[in-house]
Amino acid sequence: MTPLSQKISSRIREAGHPLTFAQFMEMALYDPDYGYYMTGGDRCSGENSDSPIGMDGGDYYTAPCLSPFLAKCLARQLQEIDELLEQPTEFTLLEMGPGEGRFMKDVLDEVTRIDPGLCARLSIILVESSPYLRRLQERMLEANSKTAKIMWASNLGVLDDDSLVGMVLSNELVDAFPVHRVRMTSEGLKEIYVNHVGGQFVEQLEAPSTDELSNSLKALDVDLPVGFTTEINLNAVDWMQQVARVLRRGVVVTIDYGHTSQDYVSPVRKDGTLLCYYRHTVATNPYERIGEQDMTAHVNFSSLALVGEQAGLSLTGFTNLMHFFMSLGIDEMVAEYDQESDEVQAVVQLLRPEGMGTTFKVLIQHKGLEVPTLQALRHRPFFEHVLRARARIASHV
Ligand SMILES: C[S@@+](CC[C@H](N)C(=O)[O-])C[C@H]1O[C@@H](n2cnc3c(N)ncnc32)[C@H](O)[C@@H]1O
Repeated sequence: MTPLSQKISSRIREAGHPLTFAQFMEMALYDPDYGYYMTGGDRCSGENSDSPIGMDGGDYYTAPCLSPFLAKCLARQLQEIDELLEQPTEFTLLEMGPGEGRFMKDVLDEVTRIDPGLCARLSIILVESSPYLRRLQERMLEANSKTAKIMWASNLGVLDDDSLVGMVLSNELVDAFPVHRVRMTSEGLKEIYVNHVGGQFVEQLEAPSTDELSNSLKALDVDLPVGFTTEINLNAVDWMQQVARVLRRGVVVTIDYGHTSQDYVSPVRKDGTLLCYYRHTVATNPYERIGEQDMTAHVNFSSLALVGEQAGLSLTGFTNLMHFFMSLGIDEMVAEYDQESDEVQAVVQLLRPEGMGTTFKVLIQHKGLEVPTLQALRHRPFFEHVLRARARIASHV
């Protein structure tokens, strides 16, 4: 048994009760001594050999590590938001969960190139809970920190209410939050707990640990059929409320893979969306390689939009990565490149309609602004009301 498995098993024994899946996932990913994001797992080779993210080494890749064009597009959107905010003396760009820091580096490089005036007014805040990843970010942003104002925070709680004017950005943050897992049974809603029996981690169903689980399904008007398992991300609710608290005026851009509530609980996802990644291989067993593999669950964007609205963030729009890119003029940007080049091929991969182009969504919310018509939302495959539509599910699965 690994030290982390031992630690989890001791915690179950000491508590005299199994852990909720969310508590188990919290330890697997964020245990300060052995958690996946806190130690870097068992990294293999690659350019940035100790990063969990990347095409060569690492366990999975994200859009920013695949291509700098997401950052180039975002830099253009930043310029428009800066104008809507009437060019504040300090424009804060806060990124939460920056991973190895590549996205922020590419955004800063592009803003420096296209808008030195905005660059001089930028104040960067990176919110990162992992000291290990923060070191990678400091290394990645070493050159930028000579010219840009960059600070780090370990959580949003240290920031004052209404202290930011600018943009709150995240890419694949919310899918990395520990989730509760619930299953509808003939006896009502049950929660999945993790026990340690006979040297093995095993799942067991018990009464939900908190009323917030059924309340959150009710708030989304979701009526789970018997036999259906799904994830509920209460950490995402807290996060959205914190973002609304710290933002005075500006825009929140959340990029992640996920669905509207209606699609989240469609019969094709009747066993939930939890997945593990180890060296670019997808696995479904969270009880293997604990602390060495990533674990994620798709994001319920309807829930983020709803909680955001309740906390003071208005819905600006919802789109997918492909339409986000097209709206921001990716075709013109790549036109000057050799179409066979690696740069253009990487963009093609990001745009793929059967891949990241549609599985990745972009949620934009705003506060303290008139409803902005943003360039990024010029073309979008959804009308905003899909986020609010009642989840219609077959009565049995
Ligand atoms: C899947 S990685 C995404 C990295 C990066 N955004 C990218 O796209 O390459 C998730 C990131 O979120 C961070 N994270 C997760 N929970 C967090 C929290 N509560 N506060 C701050 N950072 C967090 C992780 O440490 C990691 O940097």
